[in-house]
Amino acid sequence: METDKTLSESSLSAAPPPGKTGESSLLWAGRLAEKPEAEAFAFQASIHIDRRLVFEDIEGSRSHVMMLGKQGIIPAETAGLLDGELARIAEELAAGKLDIDGEAEDIHSFIEALLTRRLGDAGRMVHAGRSRNDQVALDFRLYLKRALASIRDEIAETLRVLLDLAEAHTETVMPGYTHLQRAQPVTLGHWICAWASGLERDSSRLADALKRLDECPLGSGALAGSALPLDREETARSLGFARPTLNSMDSVADRDFALELAADFAIIATHLSRFCEDIVIWASEEFGFIDLAESWSTGSSIMPQKKNPDFAELIRGKQARTAGNLMTLLSLLKGLPYAYDKDLQEDKEALFDSLDTVKSCLRMFRGMMGSARFDAGRMAAACSGGFLEATDAAEYLVRKGMPFRKAHETAALIVRDCIDSGQKRIGDRSLEQLKGRSALFENDIYRALEPINCVRARSLPGGPAPAEVRRQIGILRGRM
Ligand code: ARG
Repeated sequence: METDKTLSESSLSAAPPPGKTGESSLLWAGRLAEKPEAEAFAFQASIHIDRRLVFEDIEGSRSHVMMLGKQGIIPAETAGLLDGELARIAEELAAGKLDIDGEAEDIHSFIEALLTRRLGDAGRMVHAGRSRNDQVALDFRLYLKRALASIRDEIAETLRVLLDLAEAHTETVMPGYTHLQRAQPVTLGHWICAWASGLERDSSRLADALKRLDECPLGSGALAGSALPLDREETARSLGFARPTLNSMDSVADRDFALELAADFAIIATHLSRFCEDIVIWASEEFGFIDLAESWSTGSSIMPQKKNPDFAELIRGKQARTAGNLMTLLSLLKGLPYAYDKDLQEDKEALFDSLDTVKSCLRMFRGMMGSARFDAGRMAAACSGGFLEATDAAEYLVRKGMPFRKAHETAALIVRDCIDSGQKRIGDRSLEQLKGRSALFENDIYRALEPINCVRARSLPGGPAPAEVRRQIGILRGRM
């Protein structure tokens, strides 16, 4: 399928000369004797962006002409002729036998001009009861419905990679952090399930957006519908929409669906940026928890020893685009008078960029994670030395009847004792020493404070215990 060619395709020098500006496809030349100059024409043209909607535009036109035929607005044979020619145009485009004219004003003008060139008066019938205002809203919605499904597939594929990893690491103990300070032992499986939970919400957010996206604006005309007996139910049905939109002015003015998706995409990119920040930290020499594949790393042009996590950093950086695009759309819509305004033409570039960005980030993140190796030894070693077992020591005392605040203080004093005597773990203290702080300590404290046992003991729903993480993985798999 045609994706947007570069801007240079419609760059000013490529625009048609004054007077001859896109004459073949100008839809509004009747009223205006003077044509814009080439530079001005190129400024207001959108073909370099909306060419991406070409197949949706054709599909919408096919549905529209068949409905016009059924309703007797155009002769049934003409409808059939137009439908057949539109199908042929789609085939030729798909086969690379037809190029989109980069000098047309937009994709709608291009297709209509082409039909007219090929079919004469029949081509001139296609736009009855329609405006580019409802046409572009239709094309955009149709395109986004598909794009949304493909992003949900990418998320599902990414979740599969993450959940396989989580499954392999339900017993791989590592420190969990708050304030980036060692907090309590968790497992890599538990951590990856935390990431996966966010991505799963992203997918359900997109499914939710689909409900509002799934309405057909065709038949809304420029803003006020049409006096022709169009069948909006019929076109909505034939294009696979749940229903026609409710109000014709809203239909051409509304870009909430784009705004909502821009927000959803920005949230996905925000999630990925956080996952990648974890990876960048883990990949540092100081942590050494993860070893990214060489093919998913880059070197330095000057420092011969370097192996940098550029992919993780760039995915983290790409979030900025998606946040910017969301801001672009919010600003675009703010204070915009009803119904359609040309400002709205700016909507597609921003959203397409977020769409492409999120898609490639998901794919890159997946490839990077699927090929990474984890150093279980480094992660386990990082669990001893930071007193990550202190909370478990306090809860040990609570289980033996001590009030929590007292248990917290007792464990804190033991940590100070350790620090004062150069001991790295609570378990390094003798039972006598521990009993000096509380008579409730018994020999079972040593087993209880092993990191893997701390993790196993935290088996509440949501917790890091291996069996519980396996349950979380099962639930996330079920929701995919
Ligand atoms: N290229 C326009 C857009 O993307 C299509 C609609 C143009 N309508 C108009 N009245 N100028 O919004």
